[in-house]
Amino acid sequence: MRSSEWFNGNDETAVSHRVVMRSVGLEVPADNKKPIIGIADSSSDLNPCNLPLRALVDDVKAGILEAGGIPVAFPVISLGEDLMKASAMLYRNLLSIEIEENLRSYPLDGVVLLANCDKSVPGALMGALSANLPTIMVTAGARPAPFFKGKKVGTGTDLWRALDDWRAGRMSDQEWREFEECLSCGLGSCNTMGTASSVALMTEMLGFMLPGSATIPANTDERRESARKSGARIVEMVREDLRPSAILTREAFENAICVLSAVGGSTNAVLHLLAIAGRVGVQLTLDDINHIGSRLPLLVDIMPAGTRLMDDFFEAGGIPSLMAELQSVLNGDT
Ligand code: FES
Repeated sequence: MRSSEWFNGNDETAVSHRVVMRSVGLEVPADNKKPIIGIADSSSDLNPCNLPLRALVDDVKAGILEAGGIPVAFPVISLGEDLMKASAMLYRNLLSIEIEENLRSYPLDGVVLLANCDKSVPGALMGALSANLPTIMVTAGARPAPFFKGKKVGTGTDLWRALDDWRAGRMSDQEWREFEECLSCGLGSCNTMGTASSVALMTEMLGFMLPGSATIPANTDERRESARKSGARIVEMVREDLRPSAILTREAFENAICVLSAVGGSTNAVLHLLAIAGRVGVQLTLDDINHIGSRLPLLVDIMPAGTRLMDDFFEAGGIPSLMAELQSVLNGDT
């Protein structure tokens, strides 16, 4: 294992490395055979989309321990789409660098990426791809849908509609204030097919999340269970030496394009998909995306292109159900 270079043996360096681990409560013996798994935690009080990840750290740790690994959590920058100015996009590559350098410089054998908001997911994934250590992603899921006047509210989509109504005098000042209050409906990512949902689905399709996990709603027992299973799975992946470079083939990217097209994914996801492909040296162009996507109909009815929300997609089966529908066009060997 990679981490053996830090800990195994009895010279001064190995001893001082083991002392560091013991100081933080972790026993790493001189003949350690347990994979050391990093948990890159991007939760932050400044980012309600990523904040539920904080509660998942212990579930991921439990899964790692159950499978015979040693978990170590560390913080990384949280890219919150709403508060971060001028744009969280300016910091996507900073997160990527941070993840890559943490993975390269510390004694880690694999990593669980905890990310959720738009730029967090591609930024974290890009850094892990460059480091090429076994990697799994755990997102926090979409926040619950609030109700306004008896109807579910879609993040963003309904805000812009309500803003137009208020400015046009179709919504009173009182109703506008009530609408604002109902938008604070809980933690998690936007509940529409915005960039966060799109990149989470894309990440699952690329093979970096447990099947069906991208659509699990935030703050649920299913989400906790999925985090635990992800912790267990990364330990197996280290033992299998299953690295991103073995997963990210051209065919895997073609499958991701199919999914993005069929769900009516965010156009921002295209930018991220091209950047992810670039990280692993896969040639992917806008023409490829247009060529593959234009063959497919829109299959998933979610705002802003449709009428429903992410919790409806979860109940309909999420990515595994969609894959069954797309079976004839997907590359089946990835
Ligand atoms: Fe974070 Fe939409 S603002 S997911």
